[in-house]
Amino acid sequence: MSSETAPRIHRGLVGVPIGSTKLSNIDGQAGKLFYSGIPIEDLAYGSSYEAVVFLLLYGDYPTPLQLSDFRKLMAKYRELPPAISDIVASCRHANPTTALQVGLSALEEADDPGHPLDELALKIIGATASIICTHHALRNDETVLSPDLTLDHASDFYRRLIRRSPTPLEHDLINLDFVLHADHGANASTTVARVAASARASLSGAISAAFAALCGPKHGGAPAAVAELLDGIDTVAGARALAKDYRDKGLALPGFGHRVYKVQDPRVSLYRSGIERWIESTGSATLASLDLVDGLIEEMKPFLRMGIAPNDDLLAAVLYKVLQIPNDLFTSLFAASRAVGWAAHYMESIANGDDPIPDLFYEDAELASK
Ligand code: CMC
Repeated sequence: MSSETAPRIHRGLVGVPIGSTKLSNIDGQAGKLFYSGIPIEDLAYGSSYEAVVFLLLYGDYPTPLQLSDFRKLMAKYRELPPAISDIVASCRHANPTTALQVGLSALEEADDPGHPLDELALKIIGATASIICTHHALRNDETVLSPDLTLDHASDFYRRLIRRSPTPLEHDLINLDFVLHADHGANASTTVARVAASARASLSGAISAAFAALCGPKHGGAPAAVAELLDGIDTVAGARALAKDYRDKGLALPGFGHRVYKVQDPRVSLYRSGIERWIESTGSATLASLDLVDGLIEEMKPFLRMGIAPNDDLLAAVLYKVLQIPNDLFTSLFAASRAVGWAAHYMESIANGDDPIPDLFYEDAELASK
């Protein structure tokens, strides 16, 4: 096929707009992220996850009164319907991502077409957190803790997971993670949710599909991949040698690179400051993970000029380790936060009346090879 007639392939759909959004806005050249116009730096430490959920679902930052009512509403949906609990129990020996995938798919039954989408979104956000905690308790032969509706979303999630009340600092750190991972433009999983919305699939079906995409190691599976690397090294020299090995072999090192950011992802320093707060407050010698990550960063410095910088998942992995969350829960934890982003994009796509996507076509591989 001549170059004049060959269709131009947009690898990874780079540069192809899939719709318009008022949700998160990313300036990849400047390293800036906004949720509904608010810089992520302003939300990271001053806002609860509930406030961010409200912002993403309704487009405005809540007033104190709205937030107080909304907290109660969100809490109500943490109670898992018995039928879903039973399904999750039947997966108790499966890995956490499989159990969450099955649980999310089962929510489809609870999708009532006459129900307002925002309430369905809250139901799914509550259920996602509860499925993770339920499965984790059952796989450890422990009783499932009931939600404490007086606690905020992130605290109650953490309490049910680690089976004790979080300290104020642990509360801030888990809330930080929920806020930082809540939304991020047209990433792979959110695009899947919008594709499903454009075909008018159900909200829970769209979220279940989005979660499947998130699990990939190039996307939300990256923090777990980082953790596995960290577990295999115990010195900074070892970290540097590992990064060098990846470089020499031309392999993508988990936790580095981003499709959109060509400078450092702004969430990296926000995660880092949380981890540093934890280190200061505990006076702990458990600096190892951050030290090892810094060893990787040092060795990857030559890649900065190619726009390959540390990404949020590198530091999220360290934060999860600090919070003593098992590696195999990292992807599910990411989903617990991102559920709102998927839901908000789904709702926006429906409201915009997006045409079914993709309306794409393949290059003819036979012709292309001639
Ligand atoms: N380490 C080493 N080289 C890299 C890396 C990396 N982490 N990322 C990209 N490169 C190189 C890649 O080898 C390629 O080199 P060449 O042109 O010589 O073949 C070049 O950079 C372009 O790579 P690409 O895959 O086309 O880059 P991209 O911007 O399309 O991909 C990415 C972005 C996230 C898929 C990729 O950087 C990657 O695989 N990173 C590691 C996995 C990871 O941390 N994923 C989390 C992403 S951020 C948050 C999220 O989505 O959850």
